Amino acid sequence: MAYKKRILITGGAGFIGSHLVRHFVNTYSDYLIVNLDALTYAGNLENLRDIEDKPNYRFVKGDITDLIFIRQLFRDHDFDGVLHCAAESHVDRSIEDPLIFIQTNVMGTAALLQACREQWGEDMGDKRFHHISTDEVFGSLGSEGFFVETTPYDPRSPYSASKAGSDHLVRAFWHTYGLPMVISNCSNNYGPYQFPEKLIPLFIRNITLGKPLPVYGQGVNVRDWLYVEDHVRALDLIFHKGQPGETYNIGGHNEWKNIDLIRLLCDIVDNKTGKPAGTSQQLITFVKDRAGHDMRYAIDAGKIKADLGWVPSLTFEEGLSKTVDWYLSSHEWLESVTSGDYLKYYEQQYSNR
Ligand code: NAD
Ligand code: TYD
Repeated sequence: MAYKKRILITGGAGFIGSHLVRHFVNTYSDYLIVNLDALTYAGNLENLRDIEDKPNYRFVKGDITDLIFIRQLFRDHDFDGVLHCAAESHVDRSIEDPLIFIQTNVMGTAALLQACREQWGEDMGDKRFHHISTDEVFGSLGSEGFFVETTPYDPRSPYSASKAGSDHLVRAFWHTYGLPMVISNCSNNYGPYQFPEKLIPLFIRNITLGKPLPVYGQGVNVRDWLYVEDHVRALDLIFHKGQPGETYNIGGHNEWKNIDLIRLLCDIVDNKTGKPAGTSQQLITFVKDRAGHDMRYAIDAGKIKADLGWVPSLTFEEGLSKTVDWYLSSHEWLESVTSGDYLKYYEQQYSNR
């Protein structure tokens, strides 16, 4: 079949990537969607079972840092566009092992940009490289203010520094070679298929197992939470309608102090599992703080609202309720992603806190 567009999505077996792949495969049956993923600990093809047989979907196992392989993939498919999600994504892991973050997030992005440049040559007008990034590149806020697109970069963890490095490279390829790119910087996502190392899925899992809920420091850090499918709708709009060379911030207008979110999560799980109110809150345990723990993230999403008409569709209560329902009914998925290496990671991360 002659496809209208041939799209590469990197990291499509991960959390956000799998929702993005599902959305594009189901929404654009006239696009070919190629999902390139190295299937690290965070990538799981179970996340895409429901669409794996669709005719407009292909999976390719491979590493974005392998330029020779990436070049061949571009020659084989002659992509019109790239949505780049693949990354090492967990701050705590970046504190333990920063180099893999620099390798994947900086070198991997550079290899993709170089392959696009070589494949697209001088005729890049209708091509598109969408770099999916994080609000963490802007650093940490005090109790006031919001990140806007022009906020100076001030990354403070190896994760956010490596994402900042990749954002800079994407902009450099736009300014230097005219590679048509857009960047989006999003706040904390939550929802089904998120690996249970991040706060919300980790805590839902621990509650169901009756394990302690390790709250870093005093639990006063603030994050701005967005349901993953709302992020994906924003990515679709930016990919198709964003201006080349532009950056768009995406956020939920939904700031929560960690401890308040954790209490709410405990209450929702107690309610859904028929436990007396207050049961799971007894599992809350304050532990040693994360090194360099950013105090507050909050996004001003005014530009994407004004330019592209995007606003979040779900309230936090609706999104959390859907998310808890999904984790409570997805034992097999949780089991499959938390065997082996996960146990080692958990022990290393939490035993000395
Ligand atoms: P994730 O860790 O769940 O998934 C990352 C995926 O990338 C995995 O499938 C993994 O196998 C793949 N991958 C890792 N290294 C690779 C390599 N060298 N080659 C090919 N594939 C590789 O991450 P996520 O939470 O879905 O985040 C996706 C993107 O969105 C990241 O770029 C992240 O920085 C960004 N982001 C995440 C959040 C969030 O809250 N999770 C918020 C804003 C932005
Ligand atoms: P996380 O989900 O790792 O996302 P990020 O660090 O990218 O914001 O963490 C969200 C918040 O929850 C952050 O302030 C750290 C805190 N946190 C804990 O208190 N305990 C934990 O076990 C984890 C994983 C996170």
